[in-house]
Amino acid sequence: MKVFRTIAAVRAARREWPMLGLVPTMGFLHAGHLSLVARARGECGAAAASIFVNPAQFAPHEDLARYPRDLEHDLDVLERAGTAFAFVPDVEEIYPPGFSCRIDMGEIGAVLEGAIRPGHFAGVATVVTKLLNIVQPDRAYFGQKDAQQSVVIRRLVRDLDLPVEIVIRATVREADGLAMSSRNVYLTPEQRQQAPLLYQALRAAEHAYRKGERNAAFLRAATLEMLHAEKNFAVEYVSVASLNNVQELTGEIGSALLSVAVRLGQTRLIDNIVLDGDATP
Ligand code: PAJ
Repeated sequence: MKVFRTIAAVRAARREWPMLGLVPTMGFLHAGHLSLVARARGECGAAAASIFVNPAQFAPHEDLARYPRDLEHDLDVLERAGTAFAFVPDVEEIYPPGFSCRIDMGEIGAVLEGAIRPGHFAGVATVVTKLLNIVQPDRAYFGQKDAQQSVVIRRLVRDLDLPVEIVIRATVREADGLAMSSRNVYLTPEQRQQAPLLYQALRAAEHAYRKGERNAAFLRAATLEMLHAEKNFAVEYVSVASLNNVQELTGEIGSALLSVAVRLGQTRLIDNIVLDGDATP
């Protein structure tokens, strides 16, 4: 596996891979990331991964400084996964002095995660655009774990006519249902025991949906009630929203994105499930 630290090095080597899938990451890689790499390699013949903890998507009070990092481990697992190259730029390579551009996603970047993390999706959209322009992959792979991010990126690519195909892959979970996340390392052993209730709440609401419950307010309330069973969860939102534009739905729904965010101690946990009538468990 090649490791490129500069944009120039990626550009110089890019033609070695006639078809390439890119997996953008912030590192501290787990099986969720690696499922994207495997799919990219399987579909495109060659996979590249970027590792860049993007300061622009963290608010000043957030966890940028303590975001977990282990570059040696990441490069090792990427190599074993058969990755063609890793792009590992430093902050100045991506944001040189004088950098001043920001992509505003409008309403879909302002709700849910965007309401709690102002500026987050501008930071995501800007860095993803840069990574796509630098690597010029045929396809780029993202996880349903970050459902709103996936909606934002699809819209970004559509609105700006970026010449790439976006692929969204299912959330990879621990055996007890907890969605894998680099941030799970922040959890104390006790919190780690409590965290799976997040997914259990989503599954309970999905069960009600499958039995015919279609009222958005009822599904929201049922999820919230389950979450309240864990007194250490501070619920930030429970959302039943459009799959296309993440705007909240009211009344009777068809398909929808059910998403939740809680704080458990110092750690934010997010998860979601698609209510679509024929989703497999
Ligand atoms: P990061 O959190 O490292 O995630 C990188 C990619 O892995 C994202 O597309 C995310 O949705 C996906 N992913 C994370 N956990 C997953 C899981 N349990 N199952 C499946 N996929 C999972 O998301 C980011 O980085 C950044 O915002 C980024 C897109 C790289 C821009 O900086």
